[in-house]
Amino acid sequence: MFEALIATAVDGVVVIDAQGIVEVYNPACERLFGFAADEVVGRNVSMLMPAPYRDAHDGYIAAYNRTGVAKIIGIGREVVGRRKDGSTFPMYLSVGEGRVEARPIFVGIIHDISDRHAAERRLRELQAELLHVSRLTAMGQMSSGLAHELNQPLTAIMNYVKAARRTIEGLDDPRAVRAVELVDKAAGQTTRAGQIIRRLRDFVEKGETHRKLEDINTTVSEAVALGLTAGADVDRRFEYAAGLPEVMIDRIQIQQVVLNLVRNAVEAMAGQPRRELRVTTTAAADGAVEVLVADTGPGLPPEVLERLFQPFVTTKENGMGIGLSLCRTIVDAHGGELSATTGEGGGALFRFRLPAGTR
Ligand SMILES: Nc1ncnc2c1ncn2[C@@H]1O[C@H](COP(=O)(O)OP(=O)(O)OP(=O)(O)O)[C@@H](O)[C@H]1O
Ligand SMILES: [Mg+2]
Repeated sequence: MFEALIATAVDGVVVIDAQGIVEVYNPACERLFGFAADEVVGRNVSMLMPAPYRDAHDGYIAAYNRTGVAKIIGIGREVVGRRKDGSTFPMYLSVGEGRVEARPIFVGIIHDISDRHAAERRLRELQAELLHVSRLTAMGQMSSGLAHELNQPLTAIMNYVKAARRTIEGLDDPRAVRAVELVDKAAGQTTRAGQIIRRLRDFVEKGETHRKLEDINTTVSEAVALGLTAGADVDRRFEYAAGLPEVMIDRIQIQQVVLNLVRNAVEAMAGQPRRELRVTTTAAADGAVEVLVADTGPGLPPEVLERLFQPFVTTKENGMGIGLSLCRTIVDAHGGELSATTGEGGGALFRFRLPAGTR
């Protein structure tokens, strides 16, 4: 009866002794792990686990034998198994403890949960697609059209800049040398603008982003510097926390967010007696990081407060009202949160949070 039970069980059954040596290894295990019974019986069960669990396993058993504190015994949990070919698979392992002639044994029942994982992954993909579709309806056509429209003037700017460079290049004047440098910077920023537009189109059309693990402080400070070029006459208070975890982001997109927030802040403070821009990065719960952009302007106008993040909401004569809606779309797509409040001094305070960077 015991043999029949073990042989016909659909789930894997492994029995080990107190040293972790395998005594029973049923046919279901052979299918799951790819090892034949005679390759496993008599050897340490850790061969069925990938590193780093493999090396830790003897320690677990020893600790349990010594302390009697169960981590998995009598409980069960999701762990990772290792097949003969070195590949791994998710499995649910429940472990019971027993005795055979006063000798302790551990019985593990192994259930392959690859299918469930695949289903969960598919669900997440569907959610992402759905999110993408709703993003499309909000921004779609418009952004794409805008990107297209902007490409033409950008190409023209690039041509003029190149022509200007050729005109001054050979001049025997130290000011010309400086002018060439400036013109090269202009060309660099024009290229950058082109990249942003291309990515915006990619993002909107395919939901495509270029995410990598990035340092948030570098990302933010570069964007702040861009937002504060020429004519931004404001006092600066920057506090970039040290030792923040890296975040998995599309750098250019997150820089767009910061740039838009800084521009709004600078615009809001124009003509105000006190003009102070505060930018900080801090660690938030769960390994997330938070970026804060605050100003000492007049604060958020009540009439736009409720629709602040909707496209085309603006109180500016030359505003498009697209900055904040874009910011929110980008932060949302990164699994983060963007919010606005009134700061201590009555100015506007924007903060966004990005989840910890996992691959
Ligand atoms: N820092 C701020 N202080 C006060 N009001 C702000 C601030 N940031 C945004 N707002 C308000 O929110 C509105 C929407 O901002 P948003 O950036 O989306 O568009 P915009 O700046 O008007 O136009 P665009 O982004 O095209 O330059 C602004 O017109 C302004 O009324
Ligand atoms: Mg704006």
